[in-house]
Amino acid sequence: MAGTVIAANWKMNKTTGQAIEFARGLKDALLKNPVAATVVIAPPFTGIGALATEFKDSNIFLAAQNMYPASQGAFTGEISGEMIVDAGCRYCIVGHSERRRLFGEDNAFINAKITAALHYGLMPIFCIGETLAERNSGATFMVLAEQLKEGLNKIPTNDIKKTVIAYEPVWAIGTGLTATPGQVQEAHLFIRNLLSEMYREKEAAGIPIIYGGSVTAANIGSLMAEQEINGALVGSASLELASFLAIVNFH
Ligand code: 13P
Repeated sequence: MAGTVIAANWKMNKTTGQAIEFARGLKDALLKNPVAATVVIAPPFTGIGALATEFKDSNIFLAAQNMYPASQGAFTGEISGEMIVDAGCRYCIVGHSERRRLFGEDNAFINAKITAALHYGLMPIFCIGETLAERNSGATFMVLAEQLKEGLNKIPTNDIKKTVIAYEPVWAIGTGLTATPGQVQEAHLFIRNLLSEMYREKEAAGIPIIYGGSVTAANIGSLMAEQEINGALVGSASLELASFLAIVNFH
């Protein structure tokens, strides 16, 4: 059975001061009321160092929002997996639809990032999801299968155990349109079954499959009630502490 992961993707939000204020509040709240879920914060790169200090000796983990697959070299503006680990991250978001759409990332490039992340001991939070046009034309499962198979190309069984899959339908991100728990359950079951075919059933069963797309304190409970939904990747509703805490305490 997969563990529960609740991750905050802050995207391009928060100065270091704002990030530290949030982190202190979160750490205090979770010390007073521990939660069973693994809690992960993905700040912008500029906030990682300060939050690594804040979260030292806590069980809140850090994720980078992106990485470059090469280990070092002439890649102006990019950050390697080794640097991300060195800065204090345990996870790295890979393949977010905003990166696919705005920065032209394709499945092969995402596969290179996942391979590099695992090489450096980072746990990839690998995002997949269909657009509205793809859903409306009945192509959802085909798109998910293609993204999953190409993104995980040559990733061995031992490494898949360290991966989190985030199902993020593009039409539900930042739109206020949440996929229904039934739609998410259906997609997650499809992903789980495909992972069972690609790997062994036992490993597939242990991979957290989390949902992202307009998750709020109001809808997290009904999403988490579905068997195959193992957590959430939260954008806008993770920016305010009270709202993120309500999501983390979804029970
Ligand atoms: P929203 O929660 O703002 O829809 O963003 C979801 C997302 O993209 C998380 O990675």
